[in-house]
Amino acid sequence: MKNIVILGATGSIGKSTLAVVDLHPDKFNIFALSAHTNWQKMLKLCQKYQPDFALMTNKDAALKLQNALDNNTQVLAGSKNLNEIASHPQTDFVMAAIVGAAGMASTLTAAKAGKRILLANKESLVLAGDIFINTVQENNAELIPVDSEHSAIFQCLQSGKSGLRKIELTASGGPFLHTPIKALKTITPDAACAHPNWSMGRKISVDSATLMNKGLEVIEAHYLFALNAEQISVVVHPQSIVHSCIHYTDGSTLSQLGNPDMRSVIAYALAYPKRIYSGVAPLDLSQNSPLEFYPPDLDKFACLRSAFAALKQGGNAMGALNAANEIAVEAFLNHKIKFLEIAKVIEKTLEKIDNVKVDTLEAILDNDKNARQIATQLL
Ligand SMILES: NC(=O)c1ccc[n+]([C@@H]2O[C@H](COP(=O)([O-])OP(=O)(O)OC[C@H]3O[C@@H](n4cnc5c(N)ncnc54)[C@H](OP(=O)(O)O)[C@@H]3O)[C@@H](O)[C@H]2O)c1
Repeated sequence: MKNIVILGATGSIGKSTLAVVDLHPDKFNIFALSAHTNWQKMLKLCQKYQPDFALMTNKDAALKLQNALDNNTQVLAGSKNLNEIASHPQTDFVMAAIVGAAGMASTLTAAKAGKRILLANKESLVLAGDIFINTVQENNAELIPVDSEHSAIFQCLQSGKSGLRKIELTASGGPFLHTPIKALKTITPDAACAHPNWSMGRKISVDSATLMNKGLEVIEAHYLFALNAEQISVVVHPQSIVHSCIHYTDGSTLSQLGNPDMRSVIAYALAYPKRIYSGVAPLDLSQNSPLEFYPPDLDKFACLRSAFAALKQGGNAMGALNAANEIAVEAFLNHKIKFLEIAKVIEKTLEKIDNVKVDTLEAILDNDKNARQIATQLL
């Protein structure tokens, strides 16, 4: 029996993780859950799963949860306690599914404590890639990607990297793949969040609509698989059935396919190196014809271009890109800027930042703060 901690339990990945755990009560025990403000949803989860710990990072929400709860679950408050549950001696697996930079510190703590990390929070790698990977290696932690593309590459690479030429990440193209750039000027947050294939939280849904999600994934892949920018490419594949490819020097290409449902990826990460039932329907290729592939339009989806540029620049550019994106997406979701202005805020923030090395956590956090200030001023 493995003790599972879900950081970000009330979100989309949290929900899918619990759905897989529900299918295997003999293998997984919900040891601790965290959320930010949604104490009502957390209350329901605590009633169902009876975890040892329930953590609300928002202290008012923790108080409300504490008052409403009538079982033995211990309620914790504040983001510092994320580290306690991530590194608790009884914790086996940590699902890192907090959205944004807020998920970095606890994911890093799980790595220091040598846990198996099921990594959905790609921002941890974008911000602190080198430190994070070194910490995983030094502490014999296990890092299993929970992103459909990276899981696909991870699965294809099980026999090693010999002869690898490049990896190709597939991108659905989001809801505006065929929308002319002029029409993007008046896009509303709800339209941007209506993803054609995946059901996800609002921030990552906007990232998928701008293709910044793919940009963050390119950086994530760079760290996860130790590849440079020239060895990573992106192809638009609207059906989201082919979840990325590996190209070899002998002309062979390997890929992993499946219906677009994160439960497959999560089941793989939970059971690795075994396979368990995920609840996802088997793929019927004959019902998914035709499978299409296009090169990405980097003028229309300038965020993807900025992400490649930041990766090539290195140093603090990737953290600045992420910070500016978080500020711009939040402003867009709150109707403060227009859809196309997200890419502009990011580009201008990167122009204003001096490109320097960041090799300590302190420098990473300072860079994040600085880039957020610049992006906020640009709004
Ligand atoms: N959704 C997907 O299919 C998918 C696929 C691949 C990777 N990912 C990655 O997985 C992560 C989670 O995505 P999601 O779609 O599940 O997001 P989501 O639905 O928005 O859920 C986010 C979770 O994080 C919590 N949270 C929000 N702000 C927080 C803060 N400041 N401190 C601590 N906790 C906070 C939320 O709690 P409240 O509910 O209380 O706000 C919620 O539990 C992201 O990094 C995303 O890029 C997602």
